[in-house]
Amino acid sequence: MSAVRRADGELWMEGVPLSAVAQRFGTPCYVYSRAAIEAGWRAFDDALAGTDHLVCYAVKANSNLAVLGTLARLGSGFDIVSGGELARVLAAGGRAERVIFSGVGKSEAEMRQGLAAGIKCFNVESEPELDRLDAVAASMGRRARVSLRVNPDVDARTHPYISTGLKGNKFGIPHDRAVAAYERAAGLAHLEVTGIDCHIGSQILDPAPLGEALERVMDLVATLAARGIRLAHVDVGGGLGIRYRESEAAPDVGAWCRQVAARLAGTGHAIVLEPGRSIVGNAGALLTRVEYLKTDKEKRFAVVDASMSELLRPALYEAWHEIVPVASPARESALYDVVGPVCESSDVLGFDRELALAPGDALAILSAGAYGMAMASNYNTRPRPCEVMIDGERAVEVRARESVASLFALERTLD
Ligand code: LLP
Repeated sequence: MSAVRRADGELWMEGVPLSAVAQRFGTPCYVYSRAAIEAGWRAFDDALAGTDHLVCYAVKANSNLAVLGTLARLGSGFDIVSGGELARVLAAGGRAERVIFSGVGKSEAEMRQGLAAGIKCFNVESEPELDRLDAVAASMGRRARVSLRVNPDVDARTHPYISTGLKGNKFGIPHDRAVAAYERAAGLAHLEVTGIDCHIGSQILDPAPLGEALERVMDLVATLAARGIRLAHVDVGGGLGIRYRESEAAPDVGAWCRQVAARLAGTGHAIVLEPGRSIVGNAGALLTRVEYLKTDKEKRFAVVDASMSELLRPALYEAWHEIVPVASPARESALYDVVGPVCESSDVLGFDRELALAPGDALAILSAGAYGMAMASNYNTRPRPCEVMIDGERAVEVRARESVASLFALERTLD
């Protein structure tokens, strides 16, 4: 379930005890396992061996250069949603011709940046975006390769904030307008239609909606072919959920890949995927320390040094992350709400957790490798934490903790 394991009462990631990481780098601190990230990517790539495919890691899940560099070395593609993410991918050694550019609001500057770099494809989400991309490509004397993101109107049955494939959602081109949009794209001189894509949501635990969306997309592929529009690739998006708690079952990555490969067999279309969370989610943890134990009549609180600024998911989605002690002391346990120092009632990292705690204890918040640091903020003028990557017996600081001075370095007072 997670890249950490307990041995002799200590929590380990690969060959490093996490107590040593907390000691050496301080808390709060994100820690990632390189081996787990690699295994997460290979689960997709290996299952598709022998078929023409490209696993494009969704950079938004965790965009640290060390994560991107690790994946680039494996030959990964990348799914980006901003010019900033493109710059990160290139800085980490990723190859532009393996980059696909998703997102509903690409600016002209971002389109230019993608075209100049020579990315594989733009995943276009609306008709006006087609027109803008055509104009930008024309101004540069280029042709932009495009895939249209189709909204298949399938319920991903996940949290509404991370559900994207239903009618009335801002994402993609409605299924019933897709053929017209393709015909329009095919008529634009500076666009080259190469693919189709869909992405119906994230943290999807029931694989059935993914299969339904694939069928809806393949129906369109057939309709388009009948109208003379042949596509080179079919991009099935990301969205596979992970196990955050014992009681959950996550879809099997290999089984999903084989289902896609079987459906596309003999069609001549290459397979593209955009997984994020399922590659990095369980490869990371957030280390924190107990500042205070606070008891009132109703509740016990463990006030820790991490908060919604470092890990927003519990506050934003009521997401559940397992919280475990880094060392297991022989003490009596009690039920605690694990809370941060931020001045918001929603700053709770976990409700009613049974833990044996004393001030100063280090805790690990598990499955925090995806959408953890990537969504961290400086709320309450909290420097964002450092990030450490474990590689066998090495612990490498791959992002330094921010300094307070850097947080207001771009600001000024009035005379
Ligand atoms: N492709 C597109 C177009 C996406 O919008 C996303 C995620 C992905 C791929 C990757 O999806 P994944 O495999 O990671 O599920 N902040 C939320 C998740 C937001 C997901 C946004 N889009 C969370 O913390 O749960």
